[in-house]
Amino acid sequence: MVETTISVIKADIGSLAGHVIVPDFLLELARKSLKEGVEKKIINDFHVSHAGDDLELIMTHNKGEGNPEVHRLAWDTFIKGTELARKNKIYAAGQDMLADTFSGNVKGMGPGSAEMTFEERPSEPVVVFMADKTEPGAYNLPLYKIYADPFNTAGLVIDPNLHDGFIFVIQDVIKQVPCFISMKTPEESYDLLALLGSTGRYTIKKVYRRDGMVTASVSTDKLHAIAGKYVGKDDPVAIVRAHSGLPAMGEVLEAFTLPHLVAGWMRGSHTGPLLPVGLKDSRCTRFDGPPRVVALGFQVSNGMLVGPVDLFDDVAFDISRQRGMKVADYLRRQGPFQPHRLSEEEMEYTTLPKVMARCENRFVNEEIVPKGKETEKKKKSSSVE
Ligand code: 13P
Ligand code: 13P
Ligand code: MG
Ligand code: MG
Repeated sequence: MVETTISVIKADIGSLAGHVIVPDFLLELARKSLKEGVEKKIINDFHVSHAGDDLELIMTHNKGEGNPEVHRLAWDTFIKGTELARKNKIYAAGQDMLADTFSGNVKGMGPGSAEMTFEERPSEPVVVFMADKTEPGAYNLPLYKIYADPFNTAGLVIDPNLHDGFIFVIQDVIKQVPCFISMKTPEESYDLLALLGSTGRYTIKKVYRRDGMVTASVSTDKLHAIAGKYVGKDDPVAIVRAHSGLPAMGEVLEAFTLPHLVAGWMRGSHTGPLLPVGLKDSRCTRFDGPPRVVALGFQVSNGMLVGPVDLFDDVAFDISRQRGMKVADYLRRQGPFQPHRLSEEEMEYTTLPKVMARCENRFVNEEIVPKGKETEKKKKSSSVE
């Protein structure tokens, strides 16, 4: 049986009026480029979309993960798009294109990628999550809920296929070299949560059913680790298979209803709620946010993509969005104070250290008393006593 690979490769190569939305002409360019990829038999099928200012290439093929031809197709598409974005003076043109020359795989070059290879089931429903203004750890909480929280996923209790639990593969994204650990639920849930709670460091890479069936894959690429400075947030993608022995699509989507707090938002330096939105609302405006996630559902059929359906474009998520917007409004009142603004350590790669450097050599080892009439008076009276 031929295996199908889904590769979602994304990059921010420029956007309209700030970090808001991918212009139509870049979406068109990407469609044309991927159509050529189909004609050249590099990929079977594709869907081009966007999450705010991130251009998203959703592709199917039979070449496996990390395939140089598929990755080059995406890279070349982003390069052509960057040229056009620069020509049109689009904001932050080529933002995520951090390498000069392609070296076989987009990993470590700026664009983010999530890939998954499987034997198609008789029916293969999948969802592609695409987030803007946040980091890969944003998927930790919802993926934990999907695969390990019976209050979210009824199937963990009542479906014997899910009852044995799942295997989480986690990546330490701070380490410069590849660094992974795997943990089993339910028996290692507490250890797993000890890691997953540190969303800036430990990120779910993949989730498998206990029999080895792959079910989720996340892009874990950290832009600042590649650039050595803040150039934009990672704005991660995730692929999730649903149904027939896996959590149902409704159980998968239910995990995004909180909406939970993530790092990102303005200048990649703030905490805010991750709003589940339809494509029409996939544009971060208020304080460059709040962070958002869209969900496109497909059926994978003989290597082709049928769909998509815009899954969060549903009134049933209005209550989550309203709650998220209230939380966003509340957090904004706190301005530059933590925990709305991220900690100094988390802002290591932003422009904050430059401001801090100006203060650094003004610190002294005793309390400073400013010179002035009042302090002179106090000094005199204490010397008389
Ligand atoms: P993006 O990562 O979406 O480009 O956003 C960058 C930013 O700094 C927004 O304030
Ligand atoms: P500018 O320096 O172009 O204002 O960029 C800041 C930025 O992108 C953070 O959103
Ligand atoms: Mg941007
Ligand atoms: Mg973005």
